[in-house]
Amino acid sequence: MKVFATRILPSEGRQLIRKSGIELIEYSKKVELSQEDLIRYCSDADALVSSGPNKLNEAFFRQCPHLKGVSLLSVGYDNVDTIAATNYGVPVGNTPGVLDNATADTAFLLMLAVARNAFYMHRSILEGKWEFSEPTANLGIELNGKKLGVFGLGRIGMNFARKCKSAFNMDIYYHNRTRNIKAEEELGAKSVPFDQLLSHCDIISVHASLTPETTSVFNKETFKKMKPSSIFINTARGKIHNEKDLIDALKEKKIFGAGLDVMSEEPCSPDNPLLRMPNVCVLPHIGSATIETRNAMSVLAAQNVLAALNNQKMPHVINPEVYKSLPPQKN
Ligand code: DGY
Repeated sequence: MKVFATRILPSEGRQLIRKSGIELIEYSKKVELSQEDLIRYCSDADALVSSGPNKLNEAFFRQCPHLKGVSLLSVGYDNVDTIAATNYGVPVGNTPGVLDNATADTAFLLMLAVARNAFYMHRSILEGKWEFSEPTANLGIELNGKKLGVFGLGRIGMNFARKCKSAFNMDIYYHNRTRNIKAEEELGAKSVPFDQLLSHCDIISVHASLTPETTSVFNKETFKKMKPSSIFINTARGKIHNEKDLIDALKEKKIFGAGLDVMSEEPCSPDNPLLRMPNVCVLPHIGSATIETRNAMSVLAAQNVLAALNNQKMPHVINPEVYKSLPPQKN
């Protein structure tokens, strides 16, 4: 049995796969694989571990229906055509749960950094511009007792809301497709319509999946509804906000600042104006990038792949309907 991985895997997941006597080929070049090359590498593999932006679309599954499984090294799966995967009989798995804390930490880091303009000030010192000390210079905003608005209160949003509640005694508001009763009971969170979230909250943090409904939901119109003193945080997917509209909103001081772990295009160009704005902090999509979390993700990814190779149900399958159409044994 052979598994192809689009990246070098964290050690714990790699060991789990190799220990099972499976040949693991890890793509080690630091350039993204073209779809053509990915399909070529998969042509003699039994399963794929996919990390990074490769689009696993209809064309991919049409040419790789022989795969017993695709295991994503991520919780997000907006790059996967799950209907095509199911139609071609390929189970796809992801890594939920284990990255909640690290991703919420990243949102927390960005929130604090934006509130105190931390990245900009660090850059200013490097440029020899340590400001003349004045009582009215370098002022940030307090977070204590503020209103947090979570867009997408699932596991990661909940983890972030808990941190904000315990560190800053924030009032928690959220906008979701479905009510989060646990958050309401535990944190006193209030479910509000989207417009109210925008107009009422001091910090808005995005923790939703990228879907057609959430694409560009933060745009010119919606930024306009936010408070001029508010902070926008996105650690989910860059396409949930419209980047040009965000830049305009920041320039026109429609909002106080933005903290972004995700960008519309990744990697983002060093010329992106967001990188030089005083009220913006940008990180290179490192939400889950801790040693502990990446190892835990790799273990889940390995468990998914091993289950698929053993003709068992992946523990974290995202297209469970595939098992209804699969024959009991796939060769
Ligand atoms: C995830 O797991 O979805 C992270 O954002 C990495 O892509």
